[in-house]
Amino acid sequence: MFYPEEVIEEIRSRNDIFDVISGYVKLQKKGSSYFGLCPFHNEKSGSFSVAPHKQMYYCFGCGAGGNVITFIMEYENFTFVEAVKLLADRAGIKLPEVEYSEENRRAFDLKSKLFEINKLAATYFYHQLQIENGKKAKDYLSNRELSDETINQFGLGYSNMYSDDLYKYFKSKGYQDDILKETGLFSYENSYNSGVNDKFWNRIIFPIMDVNNKVVGFGGRVMGDAKPKYLNSPETKLFDKSRNLYGLNIARISRKPNLIICEGYMDVISLHQAGFNQAVASLGTALTLGQASLMKRYANEVLITYDSDEAGVKAALRSIPILKAAGLTTRVIDMRPYKDPDEFIKALGAEAFQERIDKAMNSFMYEIATMQLEYDLKDPESKTKFFNEISKRIVEFPEELERNNYIEAVADNYMISVDSLRKMVANYGNMVGIVKNIGEPKKSTFKKEKEDGVKKAQKILLTWMINDVPLFQKITKYVSPEDFIEPLFHDVANKLFQQLESGNVNPASIISTYESEEEHKEVAALFNSELSDELNDNEMEKALNETIFKVKKNSLEYKSRNVNNMEELKNIAKEKILLQNIHVEL
Ligand code: CTP
Ligand code: MN
Repeated sequence: MFYPEEVIEEIRSRNDIFDVISGYVKLQKKGSSYFGLCPFHNEKSGSFSVAPHKQMYYCFGCGAGGNVITFIMEYENFTFVEAVKLLADRAGIKLPEVEYSEENRRAFDLKSKLFEINKLAATYFYHQLQIENGKKAKDYLSNRELSDETINQFGLGYSNMYSDDLYKYFKSKGYQDDILKETGLFSYENSYNSGVNDKFWNRIIFPIMDVNNKVVGFGGRVMGDAKPKYLNSPETKLFDKSRNLYGLNIARISRKPNLIICEGYMDVISLHQAGFNQAVASLGTALTLGQASLMKRYANEVLITYDSDEAGVKAALRSIPILKAAGLTTRVIDMRPYKDPDEFIKALGAEAFQERIDKAMNSFMYEIATMQLEYDLKDPESKTKFFNEISKRIVEFPEELERNNYIEAVADNYMISVDSLRKMVANYGNMVGIVKNIGEPKKSTFKKEKEDGVKKAQKILLTWMINDVPLFQKITKYVSPEDFIEPLFHDVANKLFQQLESGNVNPASIISTYESEEEHKEVAALFNSELSDELNDNEMEKALNETIFKVKKNSLEYKSRNVNNMEELKNIAKEKILLQNIHVEL
């Protein structure tokens, strides 16, 4: 962790969750909690709750939840450290200087120097575009229909005709060659006058920013047809192409339900100008898993809008499994007859593009549609091969429901009967031995249900424990942290039991001992199980005892399966007897 736990806890406790969230969401009091419309999913009735006594929020609709730090992470799309900084500021708490090792300090210093140089260079290029010298470049951008506002938003610039003015500028400011060499802005080799040259001249400059709006590199485009059309910064200590996406600094706060991925600088810029500010680009290189995971931080769905040419189709087909591997769902936008989003929007406008988004094809159906071009559906043999190929792919879906959905969609789309396609898929499944009994209920459903039931019981128990501390105290006679089997549940239970011992049950503080938003959400869910409030006291007590029994029994079964020695076996036997005598009074 970046900061000591006590510091995090002080920041958390000095930012009251109700004060913070009511600045973002309209809340109404209901009982001991407040409710409002969830800012994290679309809804008409308020399932979003803020509980001041627990200092937690939770949405019963979408499962978003956590403490005040989580809220800022989720709402502002901040990392843990960014959220902590914002809240420290808000509460007027000064964060301690982070201590670095000598080596870290040097790397950190080098990086901040490089950021400083990049920022200065971007400002320099921007200035060159605005002055008389940059008129030709300004005209070029106007011809491409970019507004001044757009030019400013993306910080576009111009590198003028001189071959070393940027270099001279930095030298005049006292920067040394050893650091300038690391920026990728200059070429130290092959320069004919044996001096140093600027990398970019007479080009439109696109600064490339990271998610924190810091300039990490540059792209430069010629204004005519010369080659190469684009020059880009090489990889540097700041610029890792495989982990960066152009436009993500803006797209990440767009609050759109998806991200749009396209190929180039101009596509992103045109899309943003047309209102699609969730657009990002991988800048002509093949999409990496690192980039896909980066996108997953900000959205669950990605719409692909690569160029319509053969290369673009190939790139889309290559990207789909990568996006899928990162846990994203994917659809593909068809822009034909236009080449790219920039040209499409110029020709047909934003509304037409929105229509294409609405009609975007599910990625699997896109793969099939592309594949279909290789087959002649009028020829029976070719047609059979085509459907065999589809069956082979459908078999690869692990979920039966998903397989069935695709069987139906494909049958519908290509006008063959659902039954014959289902049989084909089943045959295929049997042949490759992956899937059995397609169309029949899965044999393992029961086990899964039981597992879910036990998990649910563990969650309910944890919620009970934090809601009612005296009850928590009574439960410790029967239950210990070891009874929570899931690793995360176990970890949380450990922390809770420690808090109980030190006399301060404080679940909100447990949440911020984890750094990722995912973990925050999961932990918040553990503390926010829905306990029915329609039960009378007797029924409630019965439910509680049954829950404890279920958790305990499962834990003993688990222990029995993993027993190491006689001693343990004896203990389990003892506990099994105790199991029959569980009795906790409310
Ligand atoms: N690209 C590159 N080097 C090139 C050509 C392309 O780095 N020589 C990258 C750029 O990031 C570019 C993207 O690939 O934005 C897509 O290339 P292309 O479709 O050729 O360019 P467009 O983005 O359409 O640019 P424009 O509309 O200005 O022609
Ligand atoms: Mn283009």
